[in-house]
Formats: sequence, C-alpha cells, structure tokens
Amino acid sequence: MGDRYVIDEMISAKSIAARVEALAREIADHFAGTDKLVVVGLLRGSFIFIADLVRELDLPVEVDFLEVSSYGMGMESSREVRILKDLRGEIEGRDVLVVEDIIDTGHTISHVLNILRTRHPARLEVCALLDKPTRREVEVRARWTGFEIPDKFVVGYGIDYAQRNRNLDHIGAVRFVD
Ligand code: IMP
Ligand code: MG
Repeated sequence: MGDRYVIDEMISAKSIAARVEALAREIADHFAGTDKLVVVGLLRGSFIFIADLVRELDLPVEVDFLEVSSYGMGMESSREVRILKDLRGEIEGRDVLVVEDIIDTGHTISHVLNILRTRHPARLEVCALLDKPTRREVEVRARWTGFEIPDKFVVGYGIDYAQRNRNLDHIGAVRFVD
C-alpha cells in the first residue's frame, strides 16, 4: 500500500447519531430495572462511540475500559489477545455491556468475552458500532450492531488508520491513490 490516501464518506455524522440513539433505546429496554450495569469500552477505537452511547442511555451506568493487544495487520499468525490495561472494577454478578468499534474476523471480541466470562458477570452482552460479517473467522455475534459494512478499511469516529483519523466525525473508507 502506498502512502497517499483519500477518505470516502461511508456513514455521515448525522446517521451515526440517529443510530446511536436507537441503539441506546434498545439497550435501555433490555437492561431495564438494572442498577448494576457496567459499560466496558475497548480501547482505543470505542472511545467516541461509548461517550455518545452512554449519554443517550437512560439507565444508571458505570463506565470502565479494557485495552487488549491487537495482532494487527501482517501479524495475523498469533491470534492471541493479551490484556494491556485491565478493568478497574470487579464485574462478578454485574451486568456487563462490552462496547467495541468493529467486529472484523471476530477474534478480538471472542477472546475478550472468554476473559470476561471467567469473572462470572450476571449478564454479558456486546454492542458493536460496525460489523464486517463477510470477514468472520470465528463465530461471534454482537446483540447490538450499529451498521453492517462491506470489507473495506474504515476510519473515523474513534477508529484509526496508523493512529490517525480517529477525530473524524463520520466513518469513511480509506482509498489509496498514487
Ligand atoms: P477482529 O479481531 O478481526 O474482529 O478485529 C477487530 C479489531 O480490528 C477492531 O477492534 C479494530 O481495532 C481493528 N479493525 C478491523 N477492521 C478495521 C478497519 O476497517 N479500520 C480500523 N481498524 C479495524
Ligand atoms: Mg479495536
């Protein structure tokens, strides 16, 4: 891949906002009555999504973060996922909502769920902003998905390419030019 690229808008800021509002309503219905919901953001890609989502969520929530190593592009041999930054709080007996930016092959979220399950949460669910179902290598589904997208590399709204473009207010597809 060359160095120069342009970003083609795929999902506007307005569409994202509308979808986040709808997701928050569904999530609030699902967890209605709970007073022990912990919303867990996977760093770093989910930081904008989780910030918007919890502000639309009409429930008492705690917010925590987890960072795991990504096997990254070109290092896909070892699909092990290690904890780089663990949760601050205990989740035993708690309702846990994991918030992820993208489910791609599914390896990351599947490892994260395995790790969190050993801590015996009462309920454990996933809300992913984006899903690339055609890329799946392990069977894993988020209960809530913002948008299904085709197999394109995307950036914006928290999601990076080489640590850049997280600050875009919309989601765009990276297109390399020469
Ligand atoms: P998975 O383990 O293959 O499901 O990968 C999920 C992680 O890969 C996401 O949380 C992202 O960090 C990263 N990722 C997957 N697709 C993209 C993309 O299109 N743009 C940026 N990061 C991506
Ligand atoms: Mg990620």
